[in-house]
Amino acid sequence: MEADRISSVAVIGTGQMGPGIALVINLAGWPVTLIGISPEETARGVQGYQAALNFLVEHEAVTPAEADLAIARLRTSMDIDDARFADLVVEAIVEHLPTKQTLFQKLDVLCPAATIIASNTSGLRISDIAALMECHPERAVTTHFWNPGHLMPLVEVIQGEKTSDETVRATSDFLKRCGKKPVIGRKDLPGQICNRLFQAVIREAIYLVQEDIATAEDVETAIKAGMGLRFPVYGPLEHLDAVGLDLAIAVQSSVLPSLCNSTEPGALLKQYVDQGKLGAKTGLGFYNWQVRSVDELRRSRDLFLVERLKEGRK
Ligand SMILES: NC(=O)c1ccc[n+]([C@@H]2O[C@H](COP(=O)([O-])OP(=O)(O)OC[C@H]3O[C@@H](n4cnc5c(N)ncnc54)[C@H](O)[C@@H]3O)[C@@H](O)[C@H]2O)c1
Repeated sequence: MEADRISSVAVIGTGQMGPGIALVINLAGWPVTLIGISPEETARGVQGYQAALNFLVEHEAVTPAEADLAIARLRTSMDIDDARFADLVVEAIVEHLPTKQTLFQKLDVLCPAATIIASNTSGLRISDIAALMECHPERAVTTHFWNPGHLMPLVEVIQGEKTSDETVRATSDFLKRCGKKPVIGRKDLPGQICNRLFQAVIREAIYLVQEDIATAEDVETAIKAGMGLRFPVYGPLEHLDAVGLDLAIAVQSSVLPSLCNSTEPGALLKQYVDQGKLGAKTGLGFYNWQVRSVDELRRSRDLFLVERLKEGRK
């Protein structure tokens, strides 16, 4: 199926992720039916969509005229059966395997054979989500939009055990046409691509604090003022080629033996959770959220991202 054969999209799920995904596709020019399970949930989806769109307009990433066009391309529905009119269905419902499996089984029967059925799952295997599909399991694929979906360019496209190369290619082409940066995972593994990389950093970040090698604030500064700052233009493998692979072996030989290599969640993480310190939602974690605001932190992130989005479009 060619990307240009995708002429309409359905997004199922009106929580944090569904509305942003619908917005990105509407802004790129395609009609979307956003499907919620109840009037309240559907209204919540429209609210989330509108808030994301307002943010983009307020920060001049989208003109008011483009915003009007996007909204004109949005339809809402409370009937999953309406997904049968779409060439691409993106599922963004709760991260619960049996619920996703039942939905994929239903969509498999409901949708024409050429319809691509994608899951926004963050952690489940698409091979498991598609396990009950008997008609066309080759059209099931993961499209993991990074949060916030309307600001982050990355979408991980994961090929399941039965997903066809054609499904992966058409999905990836479509995402590019929506202005996204898709990456393709050829093996259906936990953590896809980016969460595997992120977890390697998180494991060592916890360990550095746990072993009193550095404070949480200094770990954060090392990332924000050091490693993280060059990543947008200078990736880790480019870095290795730039410094020389022989030097890379010398550094790995001396550093790797002292890194955390635990396959369990971090000991300090477990200790905090046992103490009822769950992070921002209980007021304490690595930081004191009684004096800091997580909403402010998220807002700083979104302000940074919207500027990158504008730069990317220039
Ligand atoms: N929140 C994130 O940071 C994030 C990032 C990337 C991917 N994801 C993934 O995206 C998906 C959605 O996450 P979210 O954060 O938007 O969830 P959410 O909890 O905010 O929303 C879940 C939505 O699913 C709907 N729903 C529940 N059961 C349903 C059913 N049986 N049929 C149809 N709809 C149903 C709910 O009404 C709600 O609209 C999950 O798979 C999640 O892992 C989340």
